[in-house]
Amino acid sequence: MPENILVSVAWPYANGSLHLGHIAGCYLPADIFARYHRLKGNNVLMVSGSDEHGTPITLRAEQEGISPAEVAQKYHREFLECWDKLGITFDLFTHTDTENHAAVTHDIFLSLLEKGFIYKGSMLQPYCPQDKRFLPDRYVEGTCPYCDFNCARGDQCDQCGRTLNPSDLKNPHCRICSTPPVFETSEHYFLKLSAFEKKLQKWVGDKTFWRHNVQKFTMAFLEGGLKDRAITRDIEWGVTVPQPGFEKKRIYVWFEAVIGYLSASKEWARSHGDSDGWKPFWTGESKSYYFIGKDNIPFHTIIWPAMLMGYGGLNLPYDVPANEFLTIEGKKLSTSRNWAIWLPDYLQRYDPDPLRYYLSINMPETGDANFSWHEFLRKNNDELVATYGNLVNRVLTFTYRNFGAEVPDPGELDVASKGLLDKADSTLKEVDKHLYNCHFKEALKAAMALAQDVNRYLDDTAPWKMLKQDRLVAGRSVYTAIGAISALKTMLYPFLPFTSQKLHNYLGFEGDIREAGWRVQLPAAGQKLPQPQALFVKLEDKIVEEEMAHLGSGGS
Ligand code: MF3
Ligand code: ZN
Repeated sequence: MPENILVSVAWPYANGSLHLGHIAGCYLPADIFARYHRLKGNNVLMVSGSDEHGTPITLRAEQEGISPAEVAQKYHREFLECWDKLGITFDLFTHTDTENHAAVTHDIFLSLLEKGFIYKGSMLQPYCPQDKRFLPDRYVEGTCPYCDFNCARGDQCDQCGRTLNPSDLKNPHCRICSTPPVFETSEHYFLKLSAFEKKLQKWVGDKTFWRHNVQKFTMAFLEGGLKDRAITRDIEWGVTVPQPGFEKKRIYVWFEAVIGYLSASKEWARSHGDSDGWKPFWTGESKSYYFIGKDNIPFHTIIWPAMLMGYGGLNLPYDVPANEFLTIEGKKLSTSRNWAIWLPDYLQRYDPDPLRYYLSINMPETGDANFSWHEFLRKNNDELVATYGNLVNRVLTFTYRNFGAEVPDPGELDVASKGLLDKADSTLKEVDKHLYNCHFKEALKAAMALAQDVNRYLDDTAPWKMLKQDRLVAGRSVYTAIGAISALKTMLYPFLPFTSQKLHNYLGFEGDIREAGWRVQLPAAGQKLPQPQALFVKLEDKIVEEEMAHLGSGGS
């Protein structure tokens, strides 16, 4: 029976370009996981979209002198192009500025309100007398009461990292006009998180299969006690509040963004002509995986589950395999200081699979990982090109030239050949197990170890030498190597989809690699081979210096 797998991926703010931190953090692991499950024949729904609300968008719009909608549209389009080029295969990548998303958000809001999990209250809010508006937390700046940093924001201090309230700041002022804000009470709706503390504690306690850091962080968060949280704001850009008297307010971005997983699933179903088609992914035995970066953990292991518990009838997250951070050349990534590698830049200059490879073999799964151009070059040249690409090219070119462009007949397999094909089988199972458990790095390492085994087998059996002495024996080792390479194409497909598809065709199989499924697909003797081409290109040493020059405040 195929499983139903919901692959939910964090919604990127549509206020700037994507960078490699985003990709290593959640988009790549989610895509690997989705491709793997599709190949296994499971039903996969992979959704996300642009997060188009919140102060990140409005601040950017004010800086650029355009509307928030324009900012969001610009980056949404760029994101879609990036997914296409990098091969991130969403079933739907929508955005939060849709009627459907507002309707689903209103439904959840009203249901929680009716059940008493949302209630009305009031809180002190900074108001700018000059701009005549309430100021979102990030619009208030001042001096940090803890470390005296004089550019602390109303939500947190970037110097000492403490979270703040706007009223904590010394010498607070409006970020737009510098006037000191006054504090006024304002009515808002609150989510009664406190009502879910016990239930969440029990739920998280059972999640021993979660990544250790995710479970530990969540438990510690719950230990501290859950406070109710305001889920509306005095802003004009966002999802409306479906209650009279709240026409000038909007729903807080985090409350509605997480609802996006559900609203996107519904949008996807409707666009496929089956408005109930989302249900198999949200109820019953289906499993949902939330791929996110570690800074988003509490929203996905506490707030969203609490909302779902209150709403009822839908599955809670099955797993939240959050990744840690990616540092760049040993330093913390910073978009404002341009200490980042921007995805559109990368994709303009290089192929997608080498990046997918490097970020997978070096994935920040259980601790931070570092990206360095030098390492990128080494991994590309020493592992993709030397270990894997050359192997494939050597075998296919040799077969093409010496066996009439046909897969040779293996005759009876000897111990070594049987051994290698058995190894291919067992490696596929090992990779399967790792991918099923979201251990991406381990999965890729196991697959690359098989590539090394094939190289060793060829060194030992040396068909290039054997050819003159015993054509049958040479044909046998070529056949065996081709069989093992075909296994590699399958287990590497989730990581290296573009080159795996090419290899599938170079091996003489027609059509889409996805039709072959998750198995060792042995070629038939006599199968015709097209003229092979190199899968990967060697990169020159000089790119390291060139790329390093783009890093830092100079801009790209
Ligand atoms: N936009 C948020 C960020 O970039 C992530 C939102 S994830 C969601 O940090 F699930 F809440 F949408
Ligand atoms: Zn501080």
